[in-house]
Amino acid sequence: MLKPSLAALVAVALIAVVAVGLPAGTAIATDTAAAAIAARKKVFDDFKNAMQAIKGVFDARGPLADVVPHAEVLSAGAARLPGLFPLESAHGDTKTRATLWDDFPAIERQFDTLGTTATTLATAGAAGDFAAAVGAFRAIAGGCKGCHDDYRL
Ligand code: HEC
Repeated sequence: MLKPSLAALVAVALIAVVAVGLPAGTAIATDTAAAAIAARKKVFDDFKNAMQAIKGVFDARGPLADVVPHAEVLSAGAARLPGLFPLESAHGDTKTRATLWDDFPAIERQFDTLGTTATTLATAGAAGDFAAAVGAFRAIAGGCKGCHDDYRL
């Protein structure tokens, strides 16, 4: 008598766990995805502002050291971005092409290159080397466009 009723209780408990657990798990995945999408868009928007600010420094012919904080925004963001594309964030309010996840090692290399070139830009800016700073800026801008052409909708 006792055994079947315990088994029944366990079965009911298991069903309850599955019923409550599944939607909760789905909600967590959706939250993670939405948070990652929002966070990477913020980083990219900061990139856009940084690039405009750097161009403004060049247009005004300096002071060249003013590019340094903006270049640092780029290098800090480049370090964060590889962690802001979890697989579940392929869906949602995003313009990222699904192929980005197939090519993720190449994406990591592009962000790595962006970080390195931004550091070169900061160094050139601090040193007052206009030609080197402009060269690094052009390389960065080419990297933005190249990735967008390939991986952004
Ligand atoms: C290695 C790939 C890659 C590089 C490099 C890259 N981007 Fe992007 N960018 C993306 C992807 C993918 C998206 C789409 C993000 C989304 O909607 O999930 C994006 C989105 C954006 C957006 C739109 C953000 C929004 O609010 O929707 C801006 C602005 C942007 N990038 C600027 C830049 C700038 C400026 C650079 C260079 C300094 C840059 N990106 C470098 C891949 C890249």
